[in-house]
Amino acid sequence: MSRPDDDATDRNSLGLATSFLELLRTRRSARRFSDRPVPQKIIETLIATAGTAPSGANKQPWRFVAVQDAELKQRIRQAAEVEEAKLYGARANESWLKDLAPLGTDSNKPFLEEAPWLVAVFKLNRDDEPTRKTDQVYYVNESVGIAIGMFLAAAHVAGLSTLTHTPSPMKFLGEILGRPAHERAYMLIPIGYPANDAEVPHIERKPLERIMVVDAGCQPNAIDPTRSLPSSMPPSS
Ligand SMILES: Cc1cc2nc3c(=O)[nH]c(=O)nc-3n(C[C@H](O)[C@H](O)[C@H](O)COP(=O)(O)O)c2cc1C
Repeated sequence: MSRPDDDATDRNSLGLATSFLELLRTRRSARRFSDRPVPQKIIETLIATAGTAPSGANKQPWRFVAVQDAELKQRIRQAAEVEEAKLYGARANESWLKDLAPLGTDSNKPFLEEAPWLVAVFKLNRDDEPTRKTDQVYYVNESVGIAIGMFLAAAHVAGLSTLTHTPSPMKFLGEILGRPAHERAYMLIPIGYPANDAEVPHIERKPLERIMVVDAGCQPNAIDPTRSLPSSMPPSS
């Protein structure tokens, strides 16, 4: 049985959760950025927010490299476009290109020079803290993914736009940015204010009943196990 206090707390929680949902519903990936500068302090605050993320055994296996130097950004763009040309030209199979088509993307990546900052996220293959007890790291992909999610949400709350960009393979990032071998490039995030005339593709989110199941078994309307497509997954990289 719930008490009046609990009801008020629940109402408050729901209100806060709903406000956050409404705010995040307005987040979209940006592929055109304004040249308006973004102070470093803001980028630091967003990265500090990412650093609050949970991680396997609290190893915090991430490094966020914030790039503002125009020459570095140019080199990153050039290297990314080489990989992306291979992707769009040959590496991506037909299904992958079909799935990308509504986004209107191609191998040109001007945003890598337009955005005032590129945040290159690296995952750590081993712990490099001076105070570490062991070198081992755990659930690295999960941990870094969560930290990036918090970074993206914080950026949006701050009125900034981002893109989760994954030119693949991303080895060039470590080379250009002079990172040590135990840091592996994970994601490249241009961040800044969106260009005034920036447009986003029309895409839709799955409704709640397609993504949520309560307790065990298939829910009505949730999953139709009889409907399956031929296996055509893009190669994971
Ligand atoms: C792991 C991951 C990799 C992505 N890689 C790219 C990419 O390389 N280039 C790009 O333009 N968008 C990329 N995206 C952005 C997605 O296309 C975008 O998030 C999706 O279409 C939903 O659109 P929205 O972010 O505007 O809501 C990536 C997103 C994720 C989560």
